[in-house]
Amino acid sequence: MKRKRSEWRTAALLAAALGATSGGLMPAARAETPPASSRELFEWLKAGSYKDWAHESVPHPAPGAHPGGVRAHLNPPLEASLKDGRAAHPAGAAAVLELYGKGGALHGWAVGIKTQGDSAAGQGWYWYEVLSVKDGNRTLAAERGAPACVECHAQGRDFVLTPYPLK
Ligand code: HEC
Repeated sequence: MKRKRSEWRTAALLAAALGATSGGLMPAARAETPPASSRELFEWLKAGSYKDWAHESVPHPAPGAHPGGVRAHLNPPLEASLKDGRAAHPAGAAAVLELYGKGGALHGWAVGIKTQGDSAAGQGWYWYEVLSVKDGNRTLAAERGAPACVECHAQGRDFVLTPYPLK
C-alpha cells in the first residue's frame, strides 16, 4: 500500500508515543497492530484495515476449528516472525481470520493480538471473535487469555495455528 509522506510521519510519531522503539519494532509495523479493545477493534475490522496484510489466497474449510470458510491475514511483524521460524512472536504481532458463512459471504472475524513479549499461557494475547459484520455486540470472545481460544491455540507456534508459508 502506498502512503503519503505525512501519513508515515503520523505513524512514526504514534509509534514513538507508544514506545515502539524500545520494543525493537519498526514504526510502520507497530502502527499496523489493531486496537486490543472490543469496540474500536470492530470498527477497525469493518474498515478493512487488515486487507493489505499477507493473507491466504482463498477462504477454505478449517475442520474442527472455526466453522464455515476461513481466510487468515497476518500483520507484518507476525509474518516476519513466522518466516524466520521464531519460537516466540514479538509484541504487536497480530492475525485476523475472516469467517465466511455457507453462502460464501463474510459473516465475522476472529482476531489474535499479542500484547506483550511473553505469551504467558495465552494471557499475553488478546482474543476476539465476532459473529456479525454489522453488530459489534455479537462477540464470542473479547479478552486476554480467553480459555475457549487458548485451549486450541496453545498447540500452535506461539499460539498461531495457520499453516505457514501461506497457501
Ligand atoms: C477447536 C480449535 C480452535 C478453537 C477453539 C479456536 N481456534 Fe482459532 N484457529 C484454529 C485453527 C485450526 C486455525 C487455523 C486455520 C487455518 O487453517 O487457517 C485457527 C486460526 C485462527 C486465527 C488465525 C491466526 C492463527 O492463530 O492461526 C485466529 C486469529 C484465531 N484462530 C482466533 C481464534 C479465537 C479468537 C478463538 C476463540 C474465540 C479461537 N481462534 C478458537 C483452531 C481453533
